[in-house]
Amino acid sequence: MPTNLRFRRRSFLGLLFLFSLSTSVLYFIYSAPGIVNEYVFMVQARGIQIRENMKNIGAQVLEQVVRGAYSINGTDYSYDFNVSESDAPPPTYLPEGFTYLPSQVCPEKLPSMKGRLEVNMSEVSLEEVERFLLEGEPSIALGGHWKPEDCLPRWKVAILIPFRNRLEHLPILLRHLVPVLQKQRLQFAFYVIEQGGTEPFNRAMLFNVGYKEAMKDLNWDCLIFHDVDHLMENDRNYYGCTDMPRHFAVRLDKYSYMLPYNEFFGGVSGLTVKQFKKINGFPNAFWGWGGEDDDLWNRVQYANYTVSRPHGEHGRYMSIPHHHRGEAQFLGRYSLLRHSRERQRVDGLNNLNYSPQLSRRPLYTNITVSLSRKLAPIADY
Ligand SMILES: *[C@@H]1O[C@H](CO)[C@@H](O)[C@H](O)[C@H]1NC(C)=O
Ligand SMILES: *[C@@H]1O[C@H](CO)[C@@H](O)[C@H](O)[C@H]1NC(C)=O
Ligand SMILES: *[C@@H]1O[C@H](CO)[C@@H](O)[C@H](O)[C@H]1NC(C)=O
Ligand SMILES: *[C@@H]1O[C@H](CO)[C@@H](O)[C@H](O)[C@H]1NC(C)=O
Ligand SMILES: *[C@@H]1O[C@H](CO)[C@@H](O)[C@H](O)[C@H]1NC(C)=O
Repeated sequence: MPTNLRFRRRSFLGLLFLFSLSTSVLYFIYSAPGIVNEYVFMVQARGIQIRENMKNIGAQVLEQVVRGAYSINGTDYSYDFNVSESDAPPPTYLPEGFTYLPSQVCPEKLPSMKGRLEVNMSEVSLEEVERFLLEGEPSIALGGHWKPEDCLPRWKVAILIPFRNRLEHLPILLRHLVPVLQKQRLQFAFYVIEQGGTEPFNRAMLFNVGYKEAMKDLNWDCLIFHDVDHLMENDRNYYGCTDMPRHFAVRLDKYSYMLPYNEFFGGVSGLTVKQFKKINGFPNAFWGWGGEDDDLWNRVQYANYTVSRPHGEHGRYMSIPHHHRGEAQFLGRYSLLRHSRERQRVDGLNNLNYSPQLSRRPLYTNITVSLSRKLAPIADY
């Protein structure tokens, strides 16, 4: 980009202050009277994390800030924001009226996948969603199990949802997602892993628990790690797995539909069972909010995988507005992240103990588990 343009952008950011708190963490505080009060950006050495109060920020303002933050020694960081499926051309979809047989594997790019979806965030009761969804054919079995009858599902997908204190979000997600997965002709079931007890939220450990319990249920081959407040905006965001770990939630409305940083792996991601075992699952050591998704990214890299992402518009999501209600941020995450590689072997699926309480609901299996540090012992890193 021409230098003079850069300078105009810079002055537009007249009130951008940058100061460093430690060698690895930088905080940007941007405040512009008349727009919104204050944005706090946390920038890690390897990327930028944008959290907090992002709802109302104008896309343009954000773009300037993000681009500014990516600048190293005054030139734009070379990462480009066109996040795409390995720069491949957009996939083509099968024509309307395309037929397939019950004996054939379901196509991946079905004509019923039309693209842009309406997102309905109005609150609804679980009972109402159950009534509405259980009417469909073929019907949904206890625990939210479903598979197509007109073809053989390409993937058996366990949808794992870590959970605490978000009861009103779950029916909104189910109402939105179940019909999409049916259109995508996937076999699926939902597992809601709810954290009991009083310890800080441990999203990653909940996923490990959910994985182990789901595998007792059925021989799944694909795992989707799904935040309860993320609603996809495009039904061509196919929830099957790929030969590489996949990051689905690429463009979030709360980040003005941009990837906050290249290593971002949060929101919704997916791995085959084989891939998940190879990386020893999620870390168990992240207590409180943040960092565990970055650790998963590191694990995937150390296993020599590269993350795949959906094409352009397909990776758009809206998030149900909320605040991190009473959930503490995990401030120790940066020091843990420095030792991702060493921890990978000793902290994950292989050092995890727990005693779950299981119950089946019509649309999901409820796995309630009380977590504590002694359930996943590791030497101190
Ligand atoms: C700094 O700027 C120079 C000249 O534009 C460029 O060649 C170099 O790669 C930049 N360094 C980094 C770390 O981007
Ligand atoms: C991003 O995509 C746009 C339109 O698809 C294209 O014009 C532009 O050159 C791309 N930018 C980069 C850096 O590839
Ligand atoms: C949103 O969902 C509610 C409850 O399920 C329903 O009554 C309403 O019609 C829906 N709105 C739209 C725009 O579909
Ligand atoms: C990743 O690749 C490197 C270099 O090829 C190799 O030394 C290493 O063993 C591989 N790691 C794994 C976990 O496969
Ligand atoms: C899961 O079950 C526990 C009791 O075992 C209950 O307290 C909790 O509300 C349930 N959660 C969900 C999301 O159904």
